[in-house]
Amino acid sequence: MVSYFSISWDDGRVKLLDQRRLPQEEIYLEIRDYREIIGAIRTLAIRGAPAIGVAGAMGAALGALVLNTNDPAVFQEQFLAICQEIAQARPTAVNLCWGLERMKIVARNQSGMKVSTIKEALVAEAKSILREDETINYRLAEVGQVVIADGSRVLTHCNTGALATGGGYGTALGVMRAAWEAGKRFSVWVDETRPLLQGARLTTWELGKIGIPYTLIPDNAAGAVMHKGLVDLVMVGADRIAGNGDTANKIGTYSLAVLARRHNIPFYVAAPLSTFDFSLGNGDQIPVEEREAEEVTHFQGQPVAPPQASALNLAFDVTPQDLISGIITEAGLVLPPYSSSLRHLRKKQH
Ligand code: MRU
Repeated sequence: MVSYFSISWDDGRVKLLDQRRLPQEEIYLEIRDYREIIGAIRTLAIRGAPAIGVAGAMGAALGALVLNTNDPAVFQEQFLAICQEIAQARPTAVNLCWGLERMKIVARNQSGMKVSTIKEALVAEAKSILREDETINYRLAEVGQVVIADGSRVLTHCNTGALATGGGYGTALGVMRAAWEAGKRFSVWVDETRPLLQGARLTTWELGKIGIPYTLIPDNAAGAVMHKGLVDLVMVGADRIAGNGDTANKIGTYSLAVLARRHNIPFYVAAPLSTFDFSLGNGDQIPVEEREAEEVTHFQGQPVAPPQASALNLAFDVTPQDLISGIITEAGLVLPPYSSSLRHLRKKQH
């Protein structure tokens, strides 16, 4: 049974499921201060590109509510400063800036109004970003489920389920859920996803609740499993897709795409239009988050390397577009050549 949600707006508070504590504990945080939203995003209490987009917008609404001025011009200025602060929380998932941009547009469009009216409009916009995310994910899942054949073995990385979005089914994992509900039977290889184990902790938890059979593997086993002929399809999510189709996703995704090509396995990305950044010509321009070395040198608080060990902890990598068989969006399945298919898609982003 699926009875959880990643984030909601509840009477001036944001409720979010603390994903750092899953799967051991299912605890919802109640947040009134936008700075705590920034902390929740940074520490991955809420994570996954679309979920971060919703959290950012709700954080901006929380920030707006406590601004203590009746002067609309002062309000606008302070609100923009809050949005700028939230935008710094994590750099790679473009959905964060996308959600904040929508909030800024609402504030700007209401600039002639009373402050209380602008605040109401901002709360309404944050709630509608959440609702839209839910609808988009159902549509995306329906579009994508055709690529999963009955009896296939799908390999996935990180977590792309309902936890990683504001609502609905999720992206790549949502596609699997829709295929399962359409009556197809298949199984999933789940990469554990070092160093923070989104696969081992979260994807297994979500697949288990839906009832889809899965097998957890260490990230470095993916090549061997493919070589044995045990994978028919790779499906992952995305944090930012550049204008040419190059795709940033959780570190390790690029290696999977290279392995998939070597073994002639289709490699699909599933992502909503809000994850596309058409302002970037290619993936080299995507900012890749570098996190604390301690996430690599330690495991659950315990050191696994000598105290003087240095570590590089890139949270994401970029998969070149030529390794991607197709991109599943709510507007349809986008196929190569991306130079023309993404030009058409761009017109639908609004
Ligand atoms: O660091 P995370 O857990 O936020 O990384 C998440 C991912 O890389 C997901 O694959 C991506 O955001 C798509 S989620 C629908």
